[in-house]
Amino acid sequence: MVQVNGNYLKLKAGYLFPEIGRRVKTFAAANPDAALIRLGIGDVTEPLPEACREAMKTAIDEMGTAEGFHGYGPEQGYGWLRDAIARHDFQARGCDISAEEIFVSDGSKCDSSNILDILGAGNKIAVTDPVYPVYVDSNVMAGRTGEAGDEGRYAGLTYLPISADNSFAAEIPSEPVDLIYLCFPNNPTGAVATKDQLKHWVDYARANGSLILFDAAYEAFIQDPSLPHSIFEIEGARDCAIEFRSFSKNAGFTGTRCALTVVPKGLRGKTANGESVELWGLWNRRQSTKFNGVSYIIQRGAEAVYSDAGQKEVKDLVAFYMENAAIIRRELSTAGLTVYGGEHAPYVWIKTPEGMDSWGFFDHLLNKANVVGTPGSGFGAAGEGYFRISAFNSRSNVDTAMARIKAL
Ligand code: MLT
Repeated sequence: MVQVNGNYLKLKAGYLFPEIGRRVKTFAAANPDAALIRLGIGDVTEPLPEACREAMKTAIDEMGTAEGFHGYGPEQGYGWLRDAIARHDFQARGCDISAEEIFVSDGSKCDSSNILDILGAGNKIAVTDPVYPVYVDSNVMAGRTGEAGDEGRYAGLTYLPISADNSFAAEIPSEPVDLIYLCFPNNPTGAVATKDQLKHWVDYARANGSLILFDAAYEAFIQDPSLPHSIFEIEGARDCAIEFRSFSKNAGFTGTRCALTVVPKGLRGKTANGESVELWGLWNRRQSTKFNGVSYIIQRGAEAVYSDAGQKEVKDLVAFYMENAAIIRRELSTAGLTVYGGEHAPYVWIKTPEGMDSWGFFDHLLNKANVVGTPGSGFGAAGEGYFRISAFNSRSNVDTAMARIKAL
């Protein structure tokens, strides 16, 4: 009989969001008249920008002609998209990143998992707790951890707790680690990092020969112009960081799929024998072997994000969700809950009421208010006692959800 990857059996229960989906489905089956409002998974709800749709339509028509037809695209993504990304997202903010260092992909979730393909099994890995579960689960699947303990923490990983006690800023590990996952603006806590804070991480990584995997999927939601959007705004980051970006949350591409990963040229790791190797070449090799790129039509849609019309529409979308976040913060505070995040991120992180744990609060909101959120403990042991509310929904759903919670 064929052998399975036993590492999968180490995984705790289901992936967080399907597990929530399962519970919600059971509830909905038992309560068919309940008008559920889903503020759980961070999935966008507002229509795709017109600029993107028009670009995609034009691309579809091009594909219907012999001259405009496109088969397999360039493996890193089309040059015109990578140029636009490099210029607008990086060079305009003073980051020394070129189009050649950008790899267009179909998602940051996939890229932040797939990157493990090019990294050795012996690396010591640090994650914050709570954390976006993909970073942990992909390491478990790849056999980079031991078993989960009672608290659900996996042996072999270094957990860096983040809570209200340390203002959701992880402390630099006291032991050397090789791989550090950072996500800012943070999913799930909504916290942001200042340039000084990122500088500490970059300094640590350079001093220890570590690699930072920087997830900037939510950078568009930063409101304070002094805050960094990219790790590459920090001097020295080219020597120690890879960055993940996405069109999912800013331009509403969760169902359309387009993202990018930046691997600086000259960023190096070492072989088991101590020989120095450039990571760019390995990632290029990995992507060109295992990935056939994002469709021409979708890349044209992503390119339109950088047009004047696209930029305005994206700005309006972000402002819309951030207004939702402000409403959630205000209404939940008025209801007596302690709220964090939601000022530079589309997630509001709240303290669960006295005497209720994360899943207890999840069930309470589901049963009594028909509102779905995400239990903090699903993001890690230190997320216990917290709860995440996503600002991605229509205004009327957010208003109704808040009114229902306040009425409890
Ligand atoms: C979330 O809710 O945390 C996000 O939807 C996860 C993701 O973007 O994959």
